[in-house]
Amino acid sequence: MAKVLVIGSGGREQALAWKLAQSPAVDTVYVAPGNGGSAGKIENVAVAFDDVNGLLRCAKEKGIDLALVGQETASEAGVVDAFQSEGIDIFGPTQKAVTIETSKAFSKDLMRAQHIPTAEYRYFTDPDAAREYAKSRPFPVVIKADGLATGKGVIIADKERTIDEAIDSIMVKKIFGSSGNTVVVEDFLKGRELSMHALSDGKTSVLFPPTQDHKQVFDGDNGPNTGGMGVYGPVDWVSPKMLKDIKAQVVTPALEGLAAQDALFAGCLYPGLMIDSQEIKVLEFNARFGDPEAQVYMRLLDSDLYDILKACVHGELRPEMVRWKTGHAVCVILASPGYPGEYPKGLPITGVKEAEDQDDIVIFHAGTALDASGQLVTAGGRVLNVTAVGQTLEDALAKVYTAVKSIHFEGMHYRKDIGRRA
Ligand code: AMP
Ligand code: GLY
Repeated sequence: MAKVLVIGSGGREQALAWKLAQSPAVDTVYVAPGNGGSAGKIENVAVAFDDVNGLLRCAKEKGIDLALVGQETASEAGVVDAFQSEGIDIFGPTQKAVTIETSKAFSKDLMRAQHIPTAEYRYFTDPDAAREYAKSRPFPVVIKADGLATGKGVIIADKERTIDEAIDSIMVKKIFGSSGNTVVVEDFLKGRELSMHALSDGKTSVLFPPTQDHKQVFDGDNGPNTGGMGVYGPVDWVSPKMLKDIKAQVVTPALEGLAAQDALFAGCLYPGLMIDSQEIKVLEFNARFGDPEAQVYMRLLDSDLYDILKACVHGELRPEMVRWKTGHAVCVILASPGYPGEYPKGLPITGVKEAEDQDDIVIFHAGTALDASGQLVTAGGRVLNVTAVGQTLEDALAKVYTAVKSIHFEGMHYRKDIGRRA
């Protein structure tokens, strides 16, 4: 029986662990470091997600048969390369391949070289040159820190003053540290955002059904961006023809471009797209499962995730291995008061069990912990992920919002319009 190590602590990692635990081949799923939701076959191990040596030691001690990287920072820290050099199976991109996410300048150049449709852009290390170019473009113009910035490094500027402030805070004040040494300035794209995921073993790739995230904190897409407040899928307005185009115009050329640079990508490639009528443009590439997209995908996946990930690691992925259930899934994020800004921790949470007992509901923990007395408390910005499945999207939405009503913590907030755009 296999032992699996999932690296990370969010709702995404709990969802992946939940699905892996259902495999008849798996007996234990360790999550490093995990959160308050681990139970049954899923156990926490107290190792940080970027502690490369600690993770290796843990994998050897536990006899891990397969590891899985949840977030890009672990790949950037070199976890995948380290496991590979020790001969331990690990799912996720190497340090080199993850650059498609961790450097927006690299990613944009790859898109240009591979003729992948994306916004017109230039990038700069000199603040004056960046300012001058940004002011020469039609408004609004988009200013992005090159490196990782926990989803906060993108500023949409609709006047000269905002351009000055954005470049000043990213490049001069360095609010995102060295991630702001370079900025990408690109044209604004209008349309509808779509999340796509593709699994790749380096040669073969398999596209997942489309999903839609809700990035802004408040209903109606108002307020600041978050890590994601809710997802639904599949998205019915995306035609089979559009999916074929996404594979041919976006996924395949990106994977080929990486392979040509000696950065073979085995893992989950997640392009964020903007769709304007039938026109597809790439906003960014992520090199991991989305959070909370993964929560919806795991509710819909019919196949054994352990088999699929093993096949990816060994270059043996076949499209027919990835099968989906019929119907729709939805995930609603319950967030801490103040999120995505500052928020308190340690607030007691009630009603999770009552919500979980409802039909077709699964709750994935994100920012939760158990306090000394065993009480479940808040421990992060995105606290709980309530998911539901249904034959129709309306059906899944009705179930999810009924379940949410059972759960309580002080100042809890969530979006009431997830899936309404559909
Ligand atoms: P990114 O991290 O590059 O995906 O950007 C985060 C969010 O900023 C995206 O999900 C979009 O909502 C928005 N965004 C990024 N680039 C653009 C663009 N060129 N045009 C319009 N919106 C954008
Ligand atoms: N759902 C947004 C992200 O994972 O980046």
